Amino acid sequence: MNVTAVVENFASTGKRGRVSGMQPVVVVQHPLAQCHLAAIRAADTPSHEFRRHLNHLARLLFFEASRELPMREISVQTPLKQTQGAQLARPLVFAPILRAGLGMLDGILPLAPEAVVAHVGIRRNEETALPQAYYANLPASLSAADVFLLDPMLATGGSACEAARQLKEAGAVRITMICVVSCPEGLAAMKLAHPDVAIITAAVDAGLNDRCYIVPGLGDAGDRYFGT
Ligand code: URA
Repeated sequence: MNVTAVVENFASTGKRGRVSGMQPVVVVQHPLAQCHLAAIRAADTPSHEFRRHLNHLARLLFFEASRELPMREISVQTPLKQTQGAQLARPLVFAPILRAGLGMLDGILPLAPEAVVAHVGIRRNEETALPQAYYANLPASLSAADVFLLDPMLATGGSACEAARQLKEAGAVRITMICVVSCPEGLAAMKLAHPDVAIITAAVDAGLNDRCYIVPGLGDAGDRYFGT
């Protein structure tokens, strides 16, 4: 696997930490995250390896995204003594945007197996690059939850903006988006439409090409994950 060029491309974007002047955007620089990112960027990574690396990377991104979740104190009886412990104060909802967002669930769900999974079906019209909603299955209790919107690619931001709109319409008030690769166009669209939605990403790439693919990106995340 040739990842050298990919790493250089990533370095050339020059983004580190919070992107100034934008809504909270956290670029996860953890070395393991960046190694998994390089692997899924590489064009010769086969689907089964792409899945494995995306699972690991999604888990690392969720680890960062969940860092500030509120906890409630509980009492725990160890075999030796009563002590203090913690549990999450609010329920979690994962909302993958179909279909590529499903590719992030396998990595994340084991960390929070009690979470509810909401599905948001939005496809991109390949001619207009505009989002088309075709399916939604959202739980009733969104207002009480911390909601994590999942999509590997934040490209034009059309799908993410529409998904966040649907989630808010259904009651969500705390939404964090987790995406593997983002770009200035998508971040700007989200900032305009949903300035309250924090974004956790592994990379802010240079921008979009004329087909609205992220460059350098990783190609079509859904195709690569599912092998179709
Ligand atoms: N969706 C993808 O899968 N890849 C891109 O580069 C943009 C949107």
